[in-house]
Amino acid sequence: MTVDIAVIPAAGRGTRMRPATRVVPKALLTVVDRPAIQYAVEEAARAGAKEAILIVDLEVGHLVHQHFVNTDRLPGLEHIKIRTVVQEEPLGLGHAVLEAERVVAHRPFMCILADDIVRPGQDVLTKLIDASDDGSSVVCIQEMTPEVIVTKGAVIPTSDLVDGVMSIGGAVEKPDASAIPSLYGVLGRYVFQPEIFEHLADLEPGRGGEIQLTDAMNQLGLVGRLKGAITDQEFLDVGNPLGLLRASMVLGSHQFPEFADIARSELGLG
Ligand code: G1P
Repeated sequence: MTVDIAVIPAAGRGTRMRPATRVVPKALLTVVDRPAIQYAVEEAARAGAKEAILIVDLEVGHLVHQHFVNTDRLPGLEHIKIRTVVQEEPLGLGHAVLEAERVVAHRPFMCILADDIVRPGQDVLTKLIDASDDGSSVVCIQEMTPEVIVTKGAVIPTSDLVDGVMSIGGAVEKPDASAIPSLYGVLGRYVFQPEIFEHLADLEPGRGGEIQLTDAMNQLGLVGRLKGAITDQEFLDVGNPLGLLRASMVLGSHQFPEFADIARSELGLG
């Protein structure tokens, strides 16, 4: 089935990025020469999205909207239609995704968390889209250490990996260290069938008092409608200052070979 719409939650106010985000939305912080969220939209477009729904914050979301007005002037985004949907209240990631329901309606969709940028030339969405061909939802997973997995969603595998894909019977958001269900953690790339909206709409607040996307995935897992596609790719996390700095260097070295030379000679990198 064609998956040609992407939902990109971008309503986070970036408390880990203060004071930069006192006025500027986290999604608009610059990574090399473009705002962080533009990498997510470009990734969606490369994976075949014709439409991207950005979920934005009530206060500063209009700035995200303004950035993407006239996408024909943004190379690589000429063929994608972008719209923003306001999340009226910061009730969690699951709530943000639910806000996209009236636009997405009954279509399967990609979901991209913009804090994580894929490295140049890499792609995980195509594998997820392929694995969703039987009508399942698919989440991108990776083996993680116990120290990392307690900061992520963790899945409960119910089959072996076959061609890098496994069945999943449930998922837990940021598990307690004493109750880690597996070392397969969730990275911020998903393909969802529209049935996810029914589960999201039924949720009570979960971890941190928020409506958690992982809890809706858990419901999909319980009814045998969720798969995990494994990746060994390392994403660049721009949701914290050190990660943003690192991502800027990696992406900057790729974009400007002369910076790669500087990084090597002056900073001893690479
Ligand atoms: C979110 C999700 C979590 C996922 C992570 C990927 O957490 O809730 O399940 O593993 O993204 O980066 P956050 O990083 O927003 O706390």
